[in-house]
Amino acid sequence: MSAPIIEARDLTRHYKVGGGLFKAPGIVKAMDGASFTLAPGKTLAVVGESGCGKSTLARVVTMIEEPTSGALFIEGKAALGNTKELRQTIQIVFQNPYGSLNPRHKVGYILEEPLLLNTDMDGDARRKKAEDTMKRVGLRPEHYERYPHMFSGGQRQRIAIARALMLEPKILVLDEPVSALDLSIQAQVLNILADLQSELGLAYLFISHDLSVVKHIADDIMVMYLGKVVEAGDANTIFANPTHPYTEALLSATPVADPSRKKDRIMLTGELPSPLNPPSGCTFHPRCSFASSKCKENTPSLELYKKRNVACFHPTG
Ligand SMILES: Nc1ncnc2c1ncn2[C@@H]1O[C@H](COP(=O)(O)OP(=O)(O)O)[C@@H](O)[C@H]1O
Ligand SMILES: [Mg+2]
Repeated sequence: MSAPIIEARDLTRHYKVGGGLFKAPGIVKAMDGASFTLAPGKTLAVVGESGCGKSTLARVVTMIEEPTSGALFIEGKAALGNTKELRQTIQIVFQNPYGSLNPRHKVGYILEEPLLLNTDMDGDARRKKAEDTMKRVGLRPEHYERYPHMFSGGQRQRIAIARALMLEPKILVLDEPVSALDLSIQAQVLNILADLQSELGLAYLFISHDLSVVKHIADDIMVMYLGKVVEAGDANTIFANPTHPYTEALLSATPVADPSRKKDRIMLTGELPSPLNPPSGCTFHPRCSFASSKCKENTPSLELYKKRNVACFHPTG
């Protein structure tokens, strides 16, 4: 196995919220100790309901925000204090293709801007690089002169992906890259991402609230719940036999019918609790039909079980 291109050790990001003259601020534990590795050229999918801390993880891994504690290594180098060099190695694509592109600039400029800011390439070289990259993501040469508002959501996401590729990164962090798109368009964008990965050897940290989206693209899966990793391992192993009740519930909620899967489906009931005031013990216990008194009082740690890691006192499967 090759050395990981990303290594995260106990990454934590807390936010202070509220507070006033007579009130102490609360702490939102948006990400509360995430450890993982990503191998070059591979895809790690990060899944969990909205509010579980996925975008926080994305911002910390791409060095947009510093972690509250923990360590991050990119290509074996400590990321903290090394951001200028490493920022070209890792690029991010956001969910909302409408908000992430500057409406005042033409596509050509949007693509060339990272080159303008970070390289000494001349105008001709920048244009050539932009045109080559547009071709890679299935945009046509005439799109160079157009503005973002002239494109559909799927095409805008192609532009955002092209922009992320301009500095030839080795890693893309894709934060719900297809969640805002129609189903048929989702498949097109996922296909482009799969092609780019095999052509360019890119590693993906692919974030989605929907397990069915990552099924075909993920090598490994990391399931998050209220800022913590609850199950992580090889994607086929987890899809075939999820062992955390939360993973099983997420899988039950996916539309893809798999007759080989167990019939007794677990439904997710209740709302995601507030990370400002999380439940005691295993934070999933109020929504879990297997929960015992132990789960209310103790926090399970991530441990090896049936060839993957799971944080649960009563793993299923
Ligand atoms: N800047 C911030 N200040 C305070 N709370 C935040 C901030 N960013 C995220 N949060 C909170 O952290 C939790 C995780 O958010 P987020 O990482 O966006 O989750 P996801 O991407 O999985 O939906 C949420 O409860 C969110 O409200
Ligand atoms: Mg998010």
